Amino acid sequence: MSTSETGTHPTPNASAGSNVRTTGDGATDHATEVHIIPEHAQAQDDGQHPPVFRVKDLNVFYGEFRAVRDVNLEVDAHQVTAFIGPSGCGKTTVLRCFNRMNDLIDTARVEGTIDYHGVDLYDAQVNPVEVRRRIGMVFQKPNPFPKSIYDNIAFGPKTAGIKGDMDEIVERSLKRAGLWDEVKSRLKDSAMGLSGGQQQRLCIARALAVDPEVVLMDEPCSALDPIATGRIEDLMDEIKSEYTIVIVTHNMQQAARVSDRTAFFTAEVNETSDTRTGLLVEYDSTEQIFSNPRDERTENYVTGRFG
Ligand SMILES: Nc1ncnc2c1ncn2[C@@H]1O[C@H](COP(=O)(O)OP(=O)(O)OP(=O)(O)O)[C@@H](O)[C@H]1O
Ligand SMILES: [Mg+2]
Repeated sequence: MSTSETGTHPTPNASAGSNVRTTGDGATDHATEVHIIPEHAQAQDDGQHPPVFRVKDLNVFYGEFRAVRDVNLEVDAHQVTAFIGPSGCGKTTVLRCFNRMNDLIDTARVEGTIDYHGVDLYDAQVNPVEVRRRIGMVFQKPNPFPKSIYDNIAFGPKTAGIKGDMDEIVERSLKRAGLWDEVKSRLKDSAMGLSGGQQQRLCIARALAVDPEVVLMDEPCSALDPIATGRIEDLMDEIKSEYTIVIVTHNMQQAARVSDRTAFFTAEVNETSDTRTGLLVEYDSTEQIFSNPRDERTENYVTGRFG
């Protein structure tokens, strides 16, 4: 697990996606990198929802252990896609594949393909730093850097070499995350002095500051009270015309409220090896999943009979 995920002692480098792998002589290992960002990737919602990701036959291993098997799904642009399912079924594992965060886990291995606008994200020529700039992540526990509110936001754009008026970038990002009014008079104060809900919106602002196309959120509200949760849910609805969002949540009502499409995962038990492997059971419009699921396992889960 990366430090940025634990929420403790985050290093700016890990969270901002700056883990450029180096070769023995210190040179980066993606000298021949492919620029994966097509022009249209940042387009506003025009009512069309073409796939941003196409996942084919995804299997994820930690060492010998296969955590997730045979996942196939598409994530559509300007939609909120929710991943639901019981603990340990692989939701976080799959989510982390979308921006190659699993690269940061030594034992993790990904098989199959994740196509992002026609480019295989795991192609050796693809630069994981660029991937994480385009595909941002917000973690379960807010993990601001132990720096000022301003510097939390400015760090990513500076590192990514984004040109422009930094004051303006900071203000715009905080406004998008619905935090500006609460912090505009204390931008130089430490981010650690913010409430949990404010810290989480700061982390969302930080993710938005580098102009990503996709925002991945792993149980972003699990540490928040209902009011802070409501603010983040409203925020998702407001920003989805500009971004594509994938959210993991244990909260059924939240999935039903915020998402357009829902993927239900579960874990099957392998009796001989006494291991559990996650798999995608059903993926459909959120309305279908909650009102008329096709699979009995989905029905049992969404009606609270299991999990
Ligand atoms: N870094 C890791 N090393 C080894 N095994 C791991 C690692 N991360 C997750 N796993 C295992 O992979 C499986 C899927 O875990 P994952 O965290 O993806 O589940 P999840 O659906 O997100 O669960 P939760 O709802 O509890 O967050 C579990 O069996 C877990 O123990
Ligand atoms: Mg998880």
